[in-house]
Formats: sequence, structure tokens, C-alpha cells
Amino acid sequence: MRNFLENFNFSNKNIFVIGGSGLIGSSVIKNFENLKGKVFNLDIKKSKNNNAKFIKFDCTKLNGIENLLTDIFKNHGNPDIVINCSYPYDKNWSKCSSKNIKINYLKKNTEYHLLSYTWISKIVAEKMKSKKIKGKIINMTSIYGFLGQDLQLYKNTNLKDNLAYSIIKGGIINLTRQLSSIYGKFGITVNCLSSGGVEGKVAGTKKKQSKIFKINYSKKTPLGRLAKPEEISSVIVFLSSGASNYISGANIIVDGGWSII
Ligand SMILES: NC(=O)c1ccc[n+]([C@@H]2O[C@H](COP(=O)([O-])OP(=O)(O)OC[C@H]3O[C@@H](n4cnc5c(N)ncnc54)[C@H](O)[C@@H]3O)[C@@H](O)[C@H]2O)c1
Repeated sequence: MRNFLENFNFSNKNIFVIGGSGLIGSSVIKNFENLKGKVFNLDIKKSKNNNAKFIKFDCTKLNGIENLLTDIFKNHGNPDIVINCSYPYDKNWSKCSSKNIKINYLKKNTEYHLLSYTWISKIVAEKMKSKKIKGKIINMTSIYGFLGQDLQLYKNTNLKDNLAYSIIKGGIINLTRQLSSIYGKFGITVNCLSSGGVEGKVAGTKKKQSKIFKINYSKKTPLGRLAKPEEISSVIVFLSSGASNYISGANIIVDGGWSII
């Protein structure tokens, strides 16, 4: 049996982080840099927060994505670990409350987010299978992928419900199960992480979280606060490591206890 810590040796791993310039993605990349992984940041914009090799990548260009990923893997090596932390959305994302949403906003955002996560995961899983790589795929989802939004939290804030988000994130959770079922026999694991609210900004926007939202949110959470990005990224490292080899198809909830009450 190998030394337990060997599970966290990423020195011979090709790790692709989609959305690696974001709040959670940057923290994921920093962890892998510390662990000496060969890590690539696939994002629409470069990050000042990490030094990973940047590859310009727009996950919403679904028709060209297979060729693009094929080129990336040809040029930089086949994927051992792929983590999707992207948060793609279109210009009408803030109008996706039940009251204001139009069918086209729903279609576009579902395509950009749920379909891109789906299509990328499927392409990556096929690549791993064809190259006989016992790879790991991890997709970011949310407590709102398996729970309805608690509207009380938005009282006295300018935040609203988002109908599209719940569908997208719920879809990613079951995508995880389906892919895990199909690719398990090739030694490929597929998992997702349902994060609670992370301290920083309103996810998917540049806006800071309001004080009142943070107070409302913290009151509802057994740990009494929002998550720090590194508390999410450390679990992503675990799911990418040999220490989690027998976990597949799981939705790992990292929410400070939010969903248990
Ligand atoms: N932050 C939270 O509170 C929170 C909570 C639950 C779940 N999540 C999930 O975690 C993931 C990451 O969230 P975050 O807070 O780091 O978001 P973020 O907005 O900080 O980062 C998202 C990244 O995705 C990139 N991106 C956007 N459109 C893209 C595209 N078309 N192609 C490639 N990259 C693109 C952005 O440039 C950015 O770097 C998301 O899936 C989000 O739903 C976040």
C-alpha cells in the first residue's frame, strides 16, 4: 500500500481548471500550484490571482468546443483532472427571476451553463476513456441545485430569486450521476461539489455582497458565516486526489451545515 500522502502528489498530473480566474477557480489553482501539479487555466479572462498557464477558452461556444479541447489536449497533454468552476451567463442573467424571466433568457443561460458543463464533461470523459486515463472530473454546483432558494435571505437587499440557476445546478447534479454510471467501468470518477454561499461578491456578478444579506445568510447557517474560497477549493483537491478514489457520482455538500436545518 502506498503512503497516504502520495495521494496528494500531483506532480505528474495535467490539471485543467475551467473558470480558473474566478473566486473559487483561483483558489483551486493556487492549491494545485502548491502541490506542484501542471495546471492550466481555461477562462475567457486572465487572472491576476494565479500563475497557471492561461488558455483563452469560451465555454459558451458549444459548436467549436470539441475541436478546441482536442487542440488543447494535443498541445498541452491529455487531461488527468478537469475541474469546472466557470460561471457563464448572458446579458439577461439578472432578469432571470420568476417574475421577469423570458423564455429566451432561460434558453440562453441554460445553454451557456448547463449545456457547456454537460458537453465539456462528456468530451473530457471520452478523451480519458480513449487514452485509458483513470481521470477525475469535478463540476461546481450549488445548494440551490438540490434546494429551493430561501427568499427570506433577499429581504431588504436588491437580490432576487433566479429560476434558471436552480434548473442549471440541479441538472449538473444529475449529470454527475449519469456520467459516473457510464464511465465508472473505465476507472473515471465524476463528482460535483454543492457549495453554500462564498464570501466575496454576488456570484456571477462584480457586485459586493450586501451586509444585510451576509447577516441573513449567516443566521441560517450552523457555522454562522459564509464559506471562504479556500474551504471549497480544499475539498476540490480531495476529490482530485487518490484519497477519494472510491467516490463517484457524489454530490459533496460544502455549506457549513446550511442544508441540514
Ligand atoms: N461564489 C459562490 O457563492 C458560489 C456558491 C455556490 C456555487 N458556486 C459555483 O461555483 C462556480 C464558481 O463560482 P465563482 O464564485 O468562483 O464565480 P466567479 O464569477 O468568481 O468565477 C467564474 C469564472 O468563470 C469565468 N467564465 C465566465 N464565463 C465564461 C465562459 N464563457 N467561458 C469560460 N469561462 C468563463 C469567469 O471569467 C470567471 O473567471 C460557479 O459554477 C458557481 O455557480 C459559487
